[in-house]
Order: sequence, then C-alpha cells, then structure tokens
Amino acid sequence: MNPTIYPFDIAVYEEVFALWKRCEGVGLSDADSKESIVTYLKRNPGMSFVAIAGERIIGVLLAGHDGRRGYMHHLAVDADWRRQGIARLLVGNCLRALKATGIQKTHIFIFADNESGIAFWKSVGWTFRTDLRIISKTI
Ligand SMILES: CC(C)(COP(=O)(O)OP(=O)(O)OC[C@H]1O[C@@H](n2cnc3c(N)ncnc32)[C@H](O)[C@@H]1OP(=O)(O)O)[C@@H](O)C(=O)NCCC(=O)NCCS
Repeated sequence: MNPTIYPFDIAVYEEVFALWKRCEGVGLSDADSKESIVTYLKRNPGMSFVAIAGERIIGVLLAGHDGRRGYMHHLAVDADWRRQGIARLLVGNCLRALKATGIQKTHIFIFADNESGIAFWKSVGWTFRTDLRIISKTI
C-alpha cells in the first residue's frame, strides 16, 4: 500500500501526537498541545503535511514562516515505514508550499545527538550550520 501525502488537518491531531511520542528525536512541549497546533496551522495554512497509509498516519512534518524565513518542526516517520522516501516527500511538499509564498530559505532545529536525523537532512541536500547556536528565553 503506497502512502499518500495530505495537508495536516487538525482532525488527525491525536494520531499525529501519538506518532511524535513514539518517535525518538522529537522533543515535545506545551507548544505541541492541540490548542497550540490549531493556532500554528491557522497561521501557516496548507504548509504542514502528513503521510497516510490506509487510514493510518505514518509521517508528519510541520512547516511555517515568520514572513522572512521558513521553519520546519517535528519531522517523524513511523519506524515500520522508514527508508522508503516518505520523509523526503514530506520535506518536498513543505518546501513547495513555503516557496509559493516567496520564502527563500528554511531552517530546522535538531538535537545535536540525533545522528540519523542529521544524516537524513544532509542526504536531502541541507547544509549543517556549525557557525550558529540557538539562544532561547521562556517569556
Ligand atoms: C529521520 C526520519 C524522519 C527519516 O525518515 P525516512 O522516511 O526514513 O527518510 P527517507 O526514506 O526519506 O530517507 C531519505 C534519505 O535520508 C538518508 N537517511 C534516512 N534515514 C537515515 C538513517 N537512519 N541513517 C542514515 N541515513 C538516513 C538516506 O540517505 C535516505 O536515502 P536512502 O534510503 O536511499 O539511503 C526518520 O528516521 C524518523 O522519523 N526518525 C525519528 C524522528 C527524527 O529524528 N526526526 C528528525 C527530527 S528533525
């Protein structure tokens, strides 16, 4: 059964959240509550995608922008479906949606010890930045 890529509809939030929870390398927080994801999807309509096989959510990627740069979060593919190009498809869909709004560069955040995640992003042509650090504040 071939997976199909669809825009992320909030109706599948619970299944997406369950996928995130069972995937190593995805750091969840209050920003991933249903209410927060509703807000995120409304601010960035049509930019986040899920992969569905049969009726099951087997992949997800959030994407959005701040008017200047694009950002993607929480890429996850179910362990049973990896190495079949699903993450590559999700990234392609998100990038096309961002590009259509005029965004020219997109960044992702990844845990420094997520070697397989970093290998994925490098293999699809993304540049690993060693010149930057993330500085954060809770407000
Ligand atoms: C990282 C992840 C999303 C990749 O998903 P995927 O659907 O298996 O990736 P793809 O099949 O599209 O892989 C494309 C290419 O990336 C590279 N790649 C993917 N997974 C890899 C791994 N574990 N180790 C090394 N290279 C990898 C390969 O070059 C692969 O091409 P190939 O299979 O022809 O060799 C998936 O392993 C995952 O969900 N991991 C847990 C969550 C996570 O770490 N997310 C990233 C947070 S930003």
